[in-house]
Amino acid sequence: MDLKDHILALEKEIRELLETLDSQEKLEKFRIDFLGRKGKVTQLSKGLGALSREERPEAGKAINRMKGWVEEALKNRQQTIKARLQKEKVTGERIDITLPGRRTPLGRHHPVTRVSRQIREIFEGMGFEVAHGPEVELDYYNFEALNIPKHHPARDMQDTFYISENVVLRTHTSPVQVRTMEKQQPPIRVITLGAVYRCDSDVTHTPMFHQVEGLLVDKNVSMGDLKGILTRFVHLMFGESISLRFRPSFFPFTEPSAEVDIQCVICGGKGCRVCSHTGWLEILGCGMVDPAVFGFVDYDPEVYSGFAWGLGIERVAMLKYGINDLRAFFENDLRFLSQFQGR
Ligand code: FA5
Ligand code: MG
Repeated sequence: MDLKDHILALEKEIRELLETLDSQEKLEKFRIDFLGRKGKVTQLSKGLGALSREERPEAGKAINRMKGWVEEALKNRQQTIKARLQKEKVTGERIDITLPGRRTPLGRHHPVTRVSRQIREIFEGMGFEVAHGPEVELDYYNFEALNIPKHHPARDMQDTFYISENVVLRTHTSPVQVRTMEKQQPPIRVITLGAVYRCDSDVTHTPMFHQVEGLLVDKNVSMGDLKGILTRFVHLMFGESISLRFRPSFFPFTEPSAEVDIQCVICGGKGCRVCSHTGWLEILGCGMVDPAVFGFVDYDPEVYSGFAWGLGIERVAMLKYGINDLRAFFENDLRFLSQFQGR
């Protein structure tokens, strides 16, 4: 077979084969079989040597033409396949916009935060402003200036975490009373909300808990004002139907002093583990500011009188949400915490 026939035969073979090339792999195999170093088209040039000088240029041209169109055909085929693959990808990857989206889990406010805000709003509504004080406190503010000298037995009432001899983790928010009075002159109407620390733990006690302290100092303030404000607070917080009682008590920084109990909402006053079977739960301590405390801040007790209270925020949250173990607030169990919806 001479070269011309050989080219024609090869051309026929290639044209038929091209139709069947429907994947990148087949295209690549084709390229190697025909245009590769040992490919059939490439090898055609080898046959040139057997031709006469006259025949050679003509045959060389024919071979080059052949190479040219085979390369061209391969390129076209490649593009066709690429376009087809792309189309398949686009139509295959359908996005179903009717599928419901994935919901991002939302965080919620801790019940203590929620109750703190409610308490704060109630007292702000009565004209109290918010004051602040440190949690790591000087012995002077936590005890001394509250009429609790060193070695006074009243220090045993609160199990104190000492940082050093004169520095403590505040055991109550009452030191903010003194800090406020040092800075301001009467009339005073402040609350402060924050963490306090005591070495104490059972169903109604945790080593860290929160208090709201209130202090009002002015001329002619009476125990009646104190009772009125706290009763109003309890009714706004728990509803008008809740029973509360003022029970005489003792604090070195108030005289007279009282504690306020509200009817146990867990058992409805019948008696349970939470209220130690008394039907009542203590929520706060209060009283008329002791003249001795005014002495530490140079207020004249002949001119001014005032009252103060310290309320346990977790106790209020327990009663508000019917939680029977205070420790649940601090165990960070999401099954517990996620029940509190909204603000
Ligand atoms: C005091 O801390 C006084 N500073 C309150 C006070 C302020 C009296 C101003 C007079 C004038 P007491 O230790 O009773 O008092 O605590 C006050 C409230 O904090 C309690 O009624 C209770 O609701 C809450 N509380 C006390 N100990 C704990 C505790 N370990 N865990 C959770 N709540 C507590
Ligand atoms: Mg008490």
